[in-house]
Amino acid sequence: MTISPDILRAKIERITTLPTLPQVVTKIVAMVESPTTSVADVGKVIAKDQVLSARVLKLVNSAFYGFSRPVSTITHAMVLLGFNVVKGLAMSASVFDLFQQEGGDGVDRKPLWDHSIGTARIAGILAQKVKLHEPEEAVVAGLLHDLGKIVLCAHLPEEFATIIDLAKRRNLLMLDAEVQVLGTTHAAIGRWLLEGWKLPAKLVEPIALHHAPHLAREAPLTTAIVHLADILCIAASIGDSGDAKILPLSHAAWNLLGMTMGQVEETLCEIDEQEIVMAFA
Ligand SMILES: [Fe+2]
Ligand SMILES: [Fe+2]
Repeated sequence: MTISPDILRAKIERITTLPTLPQVVTKIVAMVESPTTSVADVGKVIAKDQVLSARVLKLVNSAFYGFSRPVSTITHAMVLLGFNVVKGLAMSASVFDLFQQEGGDGVDRKPLWDHSIGTARIAGILAQKVKLHEPEEAVVAGLLHDLGKIVLCAHLPEEFATIIDLAKRRNLLMLDAEVQVLGTTHAAIGRWLLEGWKLPAKLVEPIALHHAPHLAREAPLTTAIVHLADILCIAASIGDSGDAKILPLSHAAWNLLGMTMGQVEETLCEIDEQEIVMAFA
């Protein structure tokens, strides 16, 4: 039986008001949108929330970014990485909490989280290889690309378990199993949520369109990077996205990236699972 899209949407929209998205993040999102906000203003707000700032700094200082000296303040992090990335990291830290804390009886979340972290790490490597202007955005988008699945796992655990079971039994892609069970996909759910959180389109698009990168208009290169990173992460067996088979590679994304197979192989060699785990321990 399929849940009506309206009921599903109402359930998902309610998530944006749950305490798991801390007020501080909502405040940061609003501040970043305002042209009169300075870097120092936002830094102060994040710094006031000690748990959040510790998490953000841990991400900033992780192997993702490879800064030669540790970054010890949020203001410094923002100067180095930009508003949107720090906002994305604050958001990621909150999603991480959501993932740790809530529901999901009988569903092991760690494999999905490992898949998200692996995709983020690979997206960062690919972004450097194709010289993306802001590679950190690809990392945040990689981290959050399967946000819709994380939400399903936490808030609709029975349906999520049915989807995984259906995908494995019939050898379907998760996307196709999701359409059969829910009438929508994790990519669409991710879009609803991120738009509700008022993330900029250049961060929403790579997440909303990571399975249809040819449709990207605002951030086609970042979207293509996340698309390929997702596939490589599954191919490298880092975590488990729920997909029993490798996702099809979009020709449009591949052509846009203009990479050689040699560069893809190099990327796979550069992944250090140890680093991935360390960054979030
Ligand atoms: Fe996905
Ligand atoms: Fe994925």
